[in-house]
Amino acid sequence: MPTGSKDGAFVISGGARLGGSVRVSGAKNAALPLMAAALLTPDDVYLENVPHIDDVEVQAAVLRSLGAEVEWVEEHTLRIRAANLTNHTAPAHLVQRLRGSFLVVGALLGRLGRAASCAPGGDVIGQRPIDVHLAGFDALGARVRFEDSIYHCEAECLRGNQVFMDYPSVSGTENLVMAAARARGETIIVNAAQEPEVVELAGMLNAMGAEVTGAGTSVVRIRGADRLHGTRWRLIPDRIEAGTFAIAAALAGDEVTIEGCIPEHLLALTWKLREAGAEVLTGEDFIIVRGRRPLRAVNIQAVPYPGFATDLQSVMGVLLTQAEGISVIHERVYDNRLLYVYELRKMGADIEVSGQTALIRGRTPLFGAEVSALDIRSGAALVLAGLVARGSTLIRNIYHLDRGYEKFDIKLRQLGAVIERVD
Ligand code: EPU
Repeated sequence: MPTGSKDGAFVISGGARLGGSVRVSGAKNAALPLMAAALLTPDDVYLENVPHIDDVEVQAAVLRSLGAEVEWVEEHTLRIRAANLTNHTAPAHLVQRLRGSFLVVGALLGRLGRAASCAPGGDVIGQRPIDVHLAGFDALGARVRFEDSIYHCEAECLRGNQVFMDYPSVSGTENLVMAAARARGETIIVNAAQEPEVVELAGMLNAMGAEVTGAGTSVVRIRGADRLHGTRWRLIPDRIEAGTFAIAAALAGDEVTIEGCIPEHLLALTWKLREAGAEVLTGEDFIIVRGRRPLRAVNIQAVPYPGFATDLQSVMGVLLTQAEGISVIHERVYDNRLLYVYELRKMGADIEVSGQTALIRGRTPLFGAEVSALDIRSGAALVLAGLVARGSTLIRNIYHLDRGYEKFDIKLRQLGAVIERVD
C-alpha cells in the first residue's frame, strides 16, 4: 500500500554540489494507463520497469477492487491478471486520490461494455474536466449518464467512429484508444495527444493483438479486435524524472550523468537548458549535464508534447531564479499551476504572477525556509530550491513526492545532496 505518510518532511542543507550518475526509473504516466490496459485481456500481463511509487500502488488497488489480481513478481515487475472481473465501478475513495485511475473506464468499457466512476481527483493544479473522455465514449456508441455523482457508461457494442478531440488530452486519448481497441471497426482520433506515453500504450496494445497506428502524431487509428491476449512489456523511462535531475544538475551540479533515459523525449528541455547556458551532452540513452556555469534568463511556454512539458515547468522555474535577467513562464496547459511560486517567495525568490504567467527576476539568493509541497511537481521544485538555498529548508507534505518519484531522496543523496527524510 502507499507508503507516503502525511507527516513526512524533507530537511535539506543547501550548498552541496551534485556529481556522479543517477539511473531513471520507469515512467509513472506510462505505468498508470498500461496497468489499466491490462484489464482488456483475461490473460496475464507482465509489466517490467514499473516504479515503486504510491500512484502505482493506488492504481493497483483500483484494479484489485475490480477483481483483477495484481502482484509484484520481481522488484519492478507487476503481474496483472484480469481473468474474472467482478465489478465495473471504480471505488470513489481511490479515484478521488488519483486522476490516472479514471483510465480504467475506457478499459472496462472495452472489455465489459460498461464502466462507472466518479470524477477523478488528483493534484490541485487547475480545472481538470473529463468532457473530452466522455464525448469520445459517446462517439463510440456508449451511453453516458451522470447519476448520484457517478458517471455510468454502457454500450452493448462499441462501434469505431471518427472522433475529434476538442483538446489533445493525454488520458482522454489513452481512454479512447483502450475502448476503441475492442470496438467493432475502425476509430480515427483527430487532435490526439502525441505524448510518448500514448505511443507506449499503443505499443503494448499492438503487442496484445490490437491494431493501433499513428500514435505519436495527432491522428491515431485503431482497428478493434474481438479478443486481446496477454503480453510482457517493459515501460519507458520517466522523462519527467530524468528532466528533474537534468535541471538539478544545471542548477547545483558539477557533472551529472542521467542514465537510462530517452533524450529524444526531452528535446524541449535540453534545448532550453542550453539556451540558459548549461552544458548538455546527449547519447542514445543518457544525458550529461555540466553545471557551474553562469545561467541566463529564458522564456518558457508549457504546452502539450513535443513542447516544453508542464510537469517540468515548476522545476525550471527554480532554475530561472538563479539565471541572470528576467524570465517569463507561460503555463498554457493548466490554469492554476503557478501556486508553487508563493512557496518559492518564502525562500527569497523574486517572482510575480499574473494569471497563467510568471515573471521571474534573477538571480536572487534563496534562503532556507519552511515550505510545503502542493503537488508532485511543486514538491520537486522545492527540493531543488532547497539544494541551492543558504541554510536549511524543511519541506512538508512530501507524500506528494512519494506519489511520483521513486527514491527521490536516496537518488539525490547518491549524487551528493544533503537531504534527510524526517517525521
Ligand atoms: N482537459 C479538458 N478536457 C478533458 C481533459 C483535459 O479540457 O476532458 C484539459 C485540462 O483541463 C488541462 C489539459 O486539458 O488543462 C491537460 O489535461 P490532460 O487531460 O492532457 O492531462 P491528464 O491526462 O489529466 C496527464 C498526466 C499529467 C500531465 C498531463 C499533461 C497522467 C496520469 N497524468 O494528465 O501528469 O501534467 O497529462 O501532460 O498521465 C504529473 O505527472 O504530475 C501530472 C499531473
